[in-house]
Amino acid sequence: MGISIGLVGLGSFGSCFAPLFKNHPFVSRIGLCDREPSRLATFAHDPFYQDKLHPRDCYESLDAICEADFDALVIITQPWLHAPQCIQAMERGKDVYSAVPIMSIPHDAEILDWCDKLVTTVRRTGQRYMLGETTYYRPQAMYCRRQARAGAFGAFVYAEGEYMHDVDHDCNLRRVNSGRTASTSGKEWLPIRDRYMRAGVYGGPMHYPTHSVSGPVCVMRAHAVKVNAYGYRNQESDPFFTDVAFSNEMALFAMSNGATVRILEMRETPGIVGQDPETFRVFGTRGAFSENRWFQIKRPDAPITDMANLPTPTTTPLTSAEMFDPLPPEVEMAFKRILHPDADGVAGPGLDFSPQGHGGSHPYLVHEFVSAVAQRRQPAINVWEAVRYMAMGVAAHQSALKHGETVSVPDWGDAPPA
Ligand SMILES: NC(=O)c1ccc[n+]([C@@H]2O[C@H](COP(=O)([O-])OP(=O)(O)OC[C@H]3O[C@@H](n4cnc5c(N)ncnc54)[C@H](O)[C@@H]3O)[C@@H](O)[C@H]2O)c1
Repeated sequence: MGISIGLVGLGSFGSCFAPLFKNHPFVSRIGLCDREPSRLATFAHDPFYQDKLHPRDCYESLDAICEADFDALVIITQPWLHAPQCIQAMERGKDVYSAVPIMSIPHDAEILDWCDKLVTTVRRTGQRYMLGETTYYRPQAMYCRRQARAGAFGAFVYAEGEYMHDVDHDCNLRRVNSGRTASTSGKEWLPIRDRYMRAGVYGGPMHYPTHSVSGPVCVMRAHAVKVNAYGYRNQESDPFFTDVAFSNEMALFAMSNGATVRILEMRETPGIVGQDPETFRVFGTRGAFSENRWFQIKRPDAPITDMANLPTPTTTPLTSAEMFDPLPPEVEMAFKRILHPDADGVAGPGLDFSPQGHGGSHPYLVHEFVSAVAQRRQPAINVWEAVRYMAMGVAAHQSALKHGETVSVPDWGDAPPA
C-alpha cells in the first residue's frame, strides 16, 4: 500500500509535475485540485491518470482537498499564495510540497513572518514541508554536494549564484505574469498588490531568490549572516516593473563558514555570466566547480618544501550524465513509462531516459518528496533549508532599499537530527 498525494494547482508548472507524481511507484492514489474547472477537467478525463485517480478525488478548492484523507499535498499555485496554503495543509495533517519560493509578496517583514510561521507549524504539527527548488537537483548541485561530502573542496572560500531571466527572454515574463493573473486566484491578487503599491511597499527580484542562492547554500551547508546589496531601477517606465523597486539586484553575503557569496537576480539584461542563466560556482582551497568543470589541486596536509615535487592542478570537464545521482531503477522505469508508453516492450531497454525539466531536476524533486513522506523523514529541502534561501533574498532586498547598508540575515537553525 503506497501513499496518497493530492496535487493542488494544475497550471503551467503543476501540469509538468502531475504525471511524475502519478507514476511514482510509492504513490498508490492521487487527488487533483484546481479552482479553474476546465484545468481540473483536462486531467480528470485523461486516461493516463485513471489507474490511481477516483472521480471523487477531484476538488475545486484547497479547503475541500484539505478535508480529504490524503497523506500529502503538492502545492503548485501562484507564488504569493504558497505559505498560508502550506500551513493550512499541515494543520489538516498533511505533509506538504511547495513550489518556490516560500512566499513572494512585496513586504519584507511579512515574508519573514511567514517563514517563522512555517517553521513553527512544522515543529508543532510534526508534518513535513519540502520546497521544490529545481536548482537543488540540477546535476551540478548533485555533483558538488558529493564533492563537498568527500571534503574535496578543502575549505570553502567563495561562491557565486545567479538567476538571469530577462523579462523578454524566450520564457517571456510578461506572458507568465499575465497567465498567472488571468485565473480566479490571479484576479484576486491584483487589488492586494495595488494596496501594497499605494502604501509604498515595492518588492524586487530578490523576493524570488531560490534559483541563485540554493546552489551555494546546499553545497557549503552554510547560511548567510549579513549582506550588502544594490539594485538597479528600471529607467524606462516599463509597465512590467511598476510594482517593483528594482528590476535587477546584486548582493554580497558573508556566510556562517567564513566564505563570501555573490548573488545576482536579474530581470532586465539579456546577458548571462556563464554558460547557463540559472547556475552557481563554488570555490574552495583545494577544489572548485565552475561551468561544468571540476578544478583540483591535491595539496598535501604537511607544509610544501620539496620544490621538485610540487602539486599540479587538474581540470576535469563533466557531462550531466556524470554529475547526476542515480535514481532507483524502479523509479527511473516508472518515469520512463511517461516518456515512452512502450518502455516495457522489447525495445524498452534501448529507449532513453534523460531526466527532464529545469536541468533534469523534476524527477528528483518528486522522488525526494514521495520518499520522505513514505519513509516519514525530513526531506532534503526541508523548512529549515527553505527559510535560509528566502531570508537571503529578503535581507538583500532590504539592503538594496537602503543603498547597500549592511543587513543581518535571520536564521532558524538546522533541521533537528532525525
Ligand atoms: N523553476 C521553478 O522552480 C519554477 C518554474 C516555474 C514556476 N514555478 C512556480 O510554480 C508556481 C505555479 O506557477 P504556474 O506558472 O503554474 O502558475 P499558474 O497560474 O499557471 O497555475 C497556478 C494554478 O493554481 C491554482 N490555484 C491557486 N489557488 C488555488 C486554490 N486555493 N485551490 C486550487 N487551485 C488553486 C490556479 O487556479 C492555477 O491554475 C509558481 O509559484 C511559480 O513560482 C517554479
